[in-house]
Amino acid sequence: MSVQQLQARFDQEIAAAADLAALDGVRVAALGKSGEITQLLKSLGKMDADTRTAEAPKIHSLREAVTDAIAAKKAALEGAELERRLATERLDLSLPSAEAPRGSIHPVSQVMDELTEIFADLGFSVAEGPEIEDDWHNFSALNIPETHPARAMQDTFYMDEKGEDGAPMVLRTHTSPVQIRTMQKKQPPIRIIAPGRVYRSDSDATHTPMFHQIEGLVIDKAITLGHLKWTLETFLKAFFERDDVVLRMRPSYFPFTEPSAEVDVGWSMEKGRRVVGGSEGWMEVLGSGMVHPKVIAACGLDPDEWQGFAFGTGVDRLAMLKYGMDDLRAFFDGDLRWMKHYGFRFLDVPTLSGGVGA
Ligand code: DAH
Repeated sequence: MSVQQLQARFDQEIAAAADLAALDGVRVAALGKSGEITQLLKSLGKMDADTRTAEAPKIHSLREAVTDAIAAKKAALEGAELERRLATERLDLSLPSAEAPRGSIHPVSQVMDELTEIFADLGFSVAEGPEIEDDWHNFSALNIPETHPARAMQDTFYMDEKGEDGAPMVLRTHTSPVQIRTMQKKQPPIRIIAPGRVYRSDSDATHTPMFHQIEGLVIDKAITLGHLKWTLETFLKAFFERDDVVLRMRPSYFPFTEPSAEVDVGWSMEKGRRVVGGSEGWMEVLGSGMVHPKVIAACGLDPDEWQGFAFGTGVDRLAMLKYGMDDLRAFFDGDLRWMKHYGFRFLDVPTLSGGVGA
């Protein structure tokens, strides 16, 4: 068979190969160890010089042409294979899930999202700080000196590790140190909330060693108690989704605020249940006050120029009041039955327009 005839035959076989396996068969038959073109190349050695000079270029170009044709066909077959796989493995992410969605959003996460949404609308941004905190940020800068009874009151978890000042690091006992970190970092005006985990060595139906707080801080010029009261009232009405939420501010004491106030909300009985709204009785929900000048000065700001208010409250407790759980410990047991009952659908993202109650 002439080289030309061979080329025509291989071209045809290559064109006819329907898949990669068939194409590889053609390759072996042509270019494999005992393939026809390989044999032809081997036969060059046995030719006399003149025949070889005449035949060698033809055989080499045959090998090249067949090699190229196989490579081109291989690329085409692979491309087609990829297309086919892409077509069968196509996933339309906009289609509804075939399975009922499992899992739910924990009430603590949901309430934090609700709070973030409410305060974002009031122009607050979210700030964060470390859960392993140094003594200065957790206590001293907040005007809680070493001998202060508040240190013992807060049942602090101490770490073995020591901070820069040689005092043991602590698991933060409240979110208030985020006030300090924010004032150190940012120039006023400041409007932040700081939700997060806090730790105290305490455990019963209403206390767990880890729980959640949210801190609020506003620093600006000419801020008064009036701004504090309006902010808390607006926030609590939005959170409990009732216009009849009544606040009562009771003089109190916190080392980092002066004056300080504890805030109660009024409750009333509805269908045998105690709900927020009205004023048949009172329950405490918040600590707050005007930021102490010593705290502002500790952060390197001039307390004669800047002042503001702060507040702090328990996120878990707000969730219990709004959604009716009565045992805080169950929040952190990870019992799926509890999660199914109290959890939120992941699509129930709180928005002010949609209602932050989900
Ligand atoms: N840090 C306080 C606590 O854990 C709560 C608190 C009270 C925070 C008054 C404040 C505040 O910012 O002004 O009990």
